[in-house]
Order: sequence, then structure tokens, then C-alpha cells
Amino acid sequence: MDTLSSVDELLTLDDAERLAEAALPPDAWSYVAGGAGDERTLRWNREAFSRCRLRYRVLVDVSEVSTETTVLGTPVSMPVLVAPMAFQQIAHEEGEVATARGAAAAGALFCLSTVATATPREVAEATPGAPKWLQIYVFRDRGVSDAVIEQALEAGFSALVLTADLPVYGRRHREARTGFTAPEDAAPALIAARKRGGARAGHHSLDLLESGLEWSYVTELRERYDVPVIVKGLVTAEDALLALEHGAAGIVVSNHGGRQLDGAIASLEALPEVVEAVDGRAEVYLDGGVRRGTDVATALALGARAVLVGRPALYGLAFGGAKGVEQVLGILRDELENALALLGCRSPADVTRAHVSTAKL
Ligand SMILES: Cc1cc2nc3c(=O)[nH]c(=O)nc-3n(C[C@H](O)[C@H](O)[C@H](O)COP(=O)(O)O)c2cc1C
Repeated sequence: MDTLSSVDELLTLDDAERLAEAALPPDAWSYVAGGAGDERTLRWNREAFSRCRLRYRVLVDVSEVSTETTVLGTPVSMPVLVAPMAFQQIAHEEGEVATARGAAAAGALFCLSTVATATPREVAEATPGAPKWLQIYVFRDRGVSDAVIEQALEAGFSALVLTADLPVYGRRHREARTGFTAPEDAAPALIAARKRGGARAGHHSLDLLESGLEWSYVTELRERYDVPVIVKGLVTAEDALLALEHGAAGIVVSNHGGRQLDGAIASLEALPEVVEAVDGRAEVYLDGGVRRGTDVATALALGARAVLVGRPALYGLAFGGAKGVEQVLGILRDELENALALLGCRSPADVTRAHVSTAKL
């Protein structure tokens, strides 16, 4: 498949990755595909899935299989959501608006980054009625984040996803080597933050973010806004319990796709302890390394309500705009439907802990 040359040959998310790499200039590619440090966590996120073995059941009537589920009560076509990702115009001129359209066409929930190249209002206008969450980064000038949140809530976004694993930016060597610089002038929140905050010359755009946040901010969000708050980017039972204590309705077990602390535990490996600590008191999601329908099924078996996919959505965006995103999500949905049937499950809710073995061979 090294010679994959057209979208017609697209069968897997790894095919999508190759098409995207061919479509993007090297600096944009380094930002999209890269991780932090030696990229150990980036690799581990995927490897962790291959250490799990599925225990399938047979002679179950699977003539009707549905991948549909709900997240925080919102119906979605499958337990696969689109993760928040910054600066999407680097992958395609239509940026987040196209990604959101592709997600809506696939019936998937779209999560918009604070440092998007589209505003919440633009995304909402392009995808009326489609489910949307807003990811929050907090600027040192809190007014900038407040304005993004308020616009999103007015536009119908139904939950706030506070990203907790970026108090400072990870060491991304691939970006440094290609000389990647973020298209700050295309991100409305960054433009606002720079105007209000009097940015230093030569600063990194994310230097404008607050690195002094603590758990009390989760409570503050809960008290100020009338939508559920999800904490994204934790990997321990200890932090999961703190998230619950501070009123989180959901948790995303995530290490930011291996882009922050290199050497961090793979998100799939961290999932069981978080699920056990949460014990049904909040929904638990996972992201990092999900590339197959069987990966989605594995995460469900270990207790995730749903997964998020990051890079694969951008791969689709890069080679095919909204249509490419829809194709990538369609592949995952079809693979998940197939995996459910072969596991002997008629729906995501039928997948249990008994469907996976983590025993070492
Ligand atoms: C290009 C890129 C930009 C990202 N930007 C953000 C962001 O703005 N906010 C955030 O919470 N996470 C961000 N992430 C992390 C994703 O939300 C998600 O945690 C990660 O991509 C999941 O891993 P995967 O790419 O292996 O699916 C970004 C990831 C990528 C690849």
C-alpha cells in the first residue's frame, strides 16, 4: 500500500495518514503528526491497543447491529467523537468549519478548540443542530476565554471540555526542526489575547495561556455556566477523584496524543484505573492512538463511554476537506459495526470488561 495514490483506494485510517502526508507541506505535517520528546508516548498510545486481546462470543444474533449511543445524553451515531485540535486551517483552507461539517455528516460530535481558526458562531452556523462541545484553554487574560465560552454557549455548544494537560507547551522537536510556526493571525482567540495582553515580541503563541490553573477553576466553570464540564488530559485515579470532587460530568483520559509529557503512560493503559475510581459517577472517554474499530471496541470494553479521534480527522481534512473527514469517520463506524458483530454485541452497550483480556501471553 506504499503506492496509495488516490482517495478511491482509501480503506484504513493508516491509508488516510499517507494521503494527508502527501497533501501537506513538511512544516504543517510536523505539527499535525508529531509528538513530544522522543515520541515514546506517541508510539505507546497505539502499542497499548495491540497488547489487548479481544474475547469474542459466538452464536449471538447480530443480524441487527447499531453503533449508536449517547454522550452526556446527546445522541450520536457512534462512540467516536472528534477531538479538539488547534489551527485547522493549516490542514485545509476551510479549517474547523469543514471538519465540523464532515463530523455532522457522519453523525459524530465535534469538539472545537479554543485556538481554532474559526469562531464558535461560524461552526454553529455551518452545522445547525449537530452536537458540539467547546474545548477550553484559559488565557492569562481570563476575559478572552470567557468571551469564547459565552459565544459558544449562545451558539448552542452543549458542554465545556477543560484541557488540563497543557500548563506549558510540550517539547516538540519535529516542529522545531521544520521551523513550524502557528498561524496565530488566523486564530480569533489568539488575536484577541494579543491585542488585550500586549504580547512580547517573538513569544510562542501559547505563552499567552495561563500556567497557574488549579482544580478550583473546574468548580468556577460549573458555577458560572449551565452546561456540563468535562476535564480532558488526566491519566490517574487520583486526578479522576479530584475531577469528580470538583463537579466534572465527564473525564477524557488523554495524554494529548503524546504531544505533552513524553514518557507519559499510554491513555489505554491508564483507562482501567480511572474507570475504577470513577465507578459510574461520570462518563469516561479516552483519546490517543485510536485508529481501528477494534480499538474503539477495546476502549469500550475497558470502560470508556466513547473515544475521541484527533489526527485521523485532520488527515481526512487535509486530503479531502469535509468529505475526507466524513470518509475517515465512516471507515471507523463501519469497522466498529463489524467488530461489534464479531464480538457478539448488538450495540456499544453490550461490550463489557469480559470482552477483553490484558493477560500477558
Ligand atoms: C494538530 C493537533 C492539535 C491539537 N490541538 C489541541 C487543542 O487545541 N486542544 C486540546 O485539548 N487538544 C489538542 N490536541 C490533542 C487532541 O485533542 C487529542 O487529545 C489527541 O490528538 C488524541 O490523539 P490522536 O491524535 O492519536 O487521536 C491536538 C492534537 C493534534 C494532533
